[in-house]
Amino acid sequence: MRAHAIGALSLRYPTVALTALVLLACSLGGTAAASVQASKYLYAWAGAQNASLARDSLFVFSVAPGPDFGKLLNTVETGYNGLEPHHCRPSVTGRWLACSCLLAVFSKLPSIIFFSLADPAKPVMLRNVTLPAHSAVADELVATPDGGFFATMMANASGWTPGRVVRYDKNLKLLGEYPQDLSVLAPAPGFNPHGIGADFKHQTMLTADFLEPASSLVGNTLTFRKTARLWSLKNMSIIGTYVLPKTASTNGAMDAVAIGNTGGYYLTGGSGYLYYLNGKHGKKAVPEIVYDVGTRKTVSCILQPFRGGTRLLMALFALDRVLLLDTTIPRKPRILDIYQFPLGTGGHVVRISNDERLAAVATYFLELGAVGQIHYPGDCTIRFLRLNAQGTQFVRDEWPYTRSPVINFTDLFPGKGGFRTHGVAFL
Ligand SMILES: *[C@@H]1O[C@H](CO)[C@@H](O)[C@H](O)[C@H]1NC(C)=O
Ligand SMILES: *[C@@H]1O[C@H](CO)[C@@H](O)[C@H](O)[C@H]1NC(C)=O
Ligand SMILES: *[C@@H]1O[C@H](CO)[C@@H](O)[C@H](O)[C@H]1NC(C)=O
Ligand SMILES: *[C@@H]1O[C@H](CO)[C@@H](O)[C@H](O)[C@H]1NC(C)=O
Ligand SMILES: *[C@@H]1O[C@H](CO)[C@@H](O)[C@H](O)[C@H]1NC(C)=O
Repeated sequence: MRAHAIGALSLRYPTVALTALVLLACSLGGTAAASVQASKYLYAWAGAQNASLARDSLFVFSVAPGPDFGKLLNTVETGYNGLEPHHCRPSVTGRWLACSCLLAVFSKLPSIIFFSLADPAKPVMLRNVTLPAHSAVADELVATPDGGFFATMMANASGWTPGRVVRYDKNLKLLGEYPQDLSVLAPAPGFNPHGIGADFKHQTMLTADFLEPASSLVGNTLTFRKTARLWSLKNMSIIGTYVLPKTASTNGAMDAVAIGNTGGYYLTGGSGYLYYLNGKHGKKAVPEIVYDVGTRKTVSCILQPFRGGTRLLMALFALDRVLLLDTTIPRKPRILDIYQFPLGTGGHVVRISNDERLAAVATYFLELGAVGQIHYPGDCTIRFLRLNAQGTQFVRDEWPYTRSPVINFTDLFPGKGGFRTHGVAFL
């Protein structure tokens, strides 16, 4: 009876239910991992390749283990083209889905779009949320414990420097655009935050500056950044700025994630290094290379830490590859397994399901077409990877479901043209 009630609750409030389950499991002496519910939905945030055939859209797939795995449940059209749909993330309450739009500012469209997940199978796009006034080019999102979000805004309101970090509360009220005092940026004015990780226990946050967005358009000089910034969440101010060693000037610092609640962070760019930064050292922290992929041109590297910070997935675009690392000792990550896709697949945003047994990889990175200078389309698929119960290996046995583990966005809708899916999120 109890388990059933918690299962029903988890439909709308996954994290709350998850905590309840973990507590229940602990009190019964079981292992937490065994009781965590599998995810039920996967959201795919995608741009239409041909604007005369379709609009940029959010797709909802069933990923509940069973006969419907991989089934397309719904398509929500935004009514827009040219957003360049980027990342997406649900709130911890499961009430909202926040979605970033990389190029929207150049067409005077919203840089960030929210969906209500009151019915998680049927997201409803909201049109009443206040947009940031001083910043644009939303990129990565962090779900805050209060049910709201942080979002990195890579640029100012016209696509250049400086960007901001914005905060929305649990009712999607815009609380602010940070830093509020821009004079703190004077020593390193290239503030174009892409990756963002937060440690709410230690009240710190780390952002990684990647590139100046408008510089990626034809006619401009492509300008990458290699700085990371440590923030205090108590006052939303920057307390330290660091330059990542050995990051090529043709390849910026891209992703930043918190390593559980250890106070430590990982950072990556396209130069093949994994960096560790101990946020507890504040201003005096030093980013250090703790793992080398072995090649200097991975193009991009997106990270997905597991909940407890003891595992890390790294998706390497140019190598068509996803790595699984043991990060139990954060300064000494250890490779556990490598999943190799066919040549030319790509591999960019990687996300893990609630029970940490299933990963989804969006293989598309960015194709700016005739107007831009970045051309990395990948094969425009979402690929599912299974993990064993210990999280030590990818499972390569026979795929257990009838639908393919590869969702092909090139032929998903005959008559609508292809879609480019960058953002994926489990609920
Ligand atoms: C987009 O679709 C229209 C209508 O089918 C077609 O005429 C056009 O060639 C397509 N454009 C591209 C770039 O494929
Ligand atoms: C915006 O619209 C949603 C859905 O209709 C509603 O739940 C929410 O309260 C509205 N927010 C504001 C600030 O009006
Ligand atoms: C954005 O920054 C650029 C230079 O960095 C500046 O020329 C432009 O006016 C700024 N845009 C706004 C809206 O402040
Ligand atoms: C913000 O808080 C941190 C401690 O968390 C402190 O070191 C810093 O001086 C504060 N900054 C401002 C501008 O108040
Ligand atoms: C996706 O579909 C397109 C069009 O049918 C096809 O050319 C391509 O090979 C497919 N990709 C994969 C990975 O199956």
